[in-house]
Amino acid sequence: MIRACAARRARRAKGDAADGPGAGSGIREASGPAHKLGRMQAIQYDETGGPEVLRLVDVPVPEPEGARVRVAVRAAGVNPADWKIRRGLMPGPQFPRRAGIEIAGVVDAAGPEAAWQVGDEVIGWAEGGGYAEFALAERLVAKPAELSFLDAVAIPVAANTAGGGLAELNLEPDETLLVNGASGAVGSMAAQLARAAGVRVIGTASAANQDVVQSFGATPTTYGEGVADRVRALAPNGVDAVFDCAGHGFLDAAIELRGGTDRIITIADVSAEEKGVRFYSRPGGPLDIVAEAARLLAAEAIRLPAPARTFPLAEAAAAQRESESGHGLGKIVLITAPR
Ligand SMILES: NC(=O)c1ccc[n+]([C@@H]2O[C@H](COP(=O)([O-])OP(=O)(O)OC[C@H]3O[C@@H](n4cnc5c(N)ncnc54)[C@H](OP(=O)(O)O)[C@@H]3O)[C@@H](O)[C@H]2O)c1
Repeated sequence: MIRACAARRARRAKGDAADGPGAGSGIREASGPAHKLGRMQAIQYDETGGPEVLRLVDVPVPEPEGARVRVAVRAAGVNPADWKIRRGLMPGPQFPRRAGIEIAGVVDAAGPEAAWQVGDEVIGWAEGGGYAEFALAERLVAKPAELSFLDAVAIPVAANTAGGGLAELNLEPDETLLVNGASGAVGSMAAQLARAAGVRVIGTASAANQDVVQSFGATPTTYGEGVADRVRALAPNGVDAVFDCAGHGFLDAAIELRGGTDRIITIADVSAEEKGVRFYSRPGGPLDIVAEAARLLAAEAIRLPAPARTFPLAEAAAAQRESESGHGLGKIVLITAPR
């Protein structure tokens, strides 16, 4: 990564790609169709509520400043956080509010201090809305060439959260980790990263997704009534840590299995604090784990639970409805088609 940044700086010093319309302002810019139109489509909303509040709007293409780049979005990840923010269950920016935090695409313009070049393929976090034809971003890693945009967009939030959570649990090889929701975007990443580190994993999922959890090298079991007994049967000596990646009232079983709240984290259960369990969230932090997960996925050392479930940008409401259902395999992705 350091070498890649050095190479980009060297290319920049040579003045590559500094001949777009932004030349002279310090902004390096591609001379694509966006600049002729100066407009783009994005998903926006004016109030909290159901999926129906989401609107497709025509807005100006954003300009990157400082270390930010503008990314021509090829795939926008749909995360549960998107509909939780839309419903007002999580805080969000001011209205009118753009939706979406996760993108994969191509750098289309770069601020004067950006570490990226026009044309770089990247994945990461959008600032000011990722459900759009173009998005501003700074928190990015390189997309491995072997990965499609569709597959690559499944990585940032899942790897950042799963990798950070595993580090928090401080697992040793041969310890046993229980992952609740091991068929989901974060849970499947957590299960596989833990397996890659030599940790034994028991993963919960619906009955329909037991095979998928098993394919990650984890021992599957179903969530719901009686889960603590099923886990005890699979791990008679107990589990060393619990990573709740799904919520749905799992913490009581987790506490029962651990005999207390030590080495249990949840990313999804807001009752955590009252139970004395750590609610884990990692909006920032180093990006090494995201780059590493991208490398592992490109090398087929880890896999996605299923191919992406895709929707056109204009059908963001349907995509969020699907996310809100809480089931179904594969990353939910909005496909954008820049004009
Ligand atoms: N705190 C943070 O920083 C952070 C970051 C990312 C995500 N999250 C949260 O983590 C959760 C998972 O996110 P995701 O993107 O992985 O979602 P996802 O891909 O939709 O996965 C949802 C998972 O929940 C499972 N599930 C559904 N009903 C369940 C139940 N009753 N009991 C146990 N598991 C159940 C699903 O299993 P089946 O499909 O097999 O039914 C699936 O494995 C969401 O609540 C999200 O908001 C938090």
